[in-house]
Amino acid sequence: MTSPINIDPKDIQAYWAKYQDNKYVEGWASLWTKRADTIGGPLALDGHRRKALVPGCGRGVDVLLLASFGYDAYGLECSATAVDACKKEKENHSRYHVGDKKAWKGKVTFVQRDFFDNTWLKEIGVPRNGFDFFCALNPKLRPRWALRHTELLAPSPRGNLICLESPRHKNPLAPGPPFASPSEAYMEHLSRPGEKISYNDKGLVNADPLREPSKGGLERVAHWQPERTHTVGQGENGVIHDRVSIWRRRD
Ligand SMILES: C[S@@+](CC[C@H](N)C(=O)[O-])C[C@H]1O[C@@H](n2cnc3c(N)ncnc32)[C@H](O)[C@@H]1O
Repeated sequence: MTSPINIDPKDIQAYWAKYQDNKYVEGWASLWTKRADTIGGPLALDGHRRKALVPGCGRGVDVLLLASFGYDAYGLECSATAVDACKKEKENHSRYHVGDKKAWKGKVTFVQRDFFDNTWLKEIGVPRNGFDFFCALNPKLRPRWALRHTELLAPSPRGNLICLESPRHKNPLAPGPPFASPSEAYMEHLSRPGEKISYNDKGLVNADPLREPSKGGLERVAHWQPERTHTVGQGENGVIHDRVSIWRRRD
């Protein structure tokens, strides 16, 4: 079972002792709230607003949601048509409810640029928190994708890379995008950014959980199954195949 937060196994009994009998709902609610703590709130201790980058943001829905949570959110898109769609979606701002009344809404910026290019860094600054668009990229680009994220992330625990691992259940030999994105592929690439990762003839990574990560390799600090997801991330009978993972630098 995936858990909403990494709890040290020795602390689990003590945690649940506080939520006996019918209090289990409260116990789970508290765990899920703690997960929000993994990436931290939108306002830093000194009061400045934290930034979030959504590369390959498509229609921009994640950017608008993050801004409604209070982050200054930046959407990066290589397609001009997609950027137009983002601007249109922004007009639907009433769909995005403000999450934290104290933080209020963050700023929304859409930029038409290539994630692997450096020009946008000067324009918007280094956001230091990122989201993935792994499934949109040709698997040949995955080493560069992983390296780029490690370069952009702020040191732990301020910088968090959030990945929606989807579609995990697609046949890896089927053409994309979206390309099949199993959890093991994230693990191999983000543990060894920039390195060539070998795949077998079924299109799956040759995973070796005992191999040490490389010096710049990221650490997975959380991994869970979302409560709900879009239909592409579901299998028969609504089974949820998607997972969410959060990664940080080790230094
Ligand atoms: C899977 S879609 C994102 C979907 C988005 N979450 C939504 O709900 O609309 C991936 C997007 O990445 C963009 N993209 C692909 N390669 C890119 C790159 N190198 N730099 C910036 N955007 C890129 C594509 O144009 C596409 O819109």
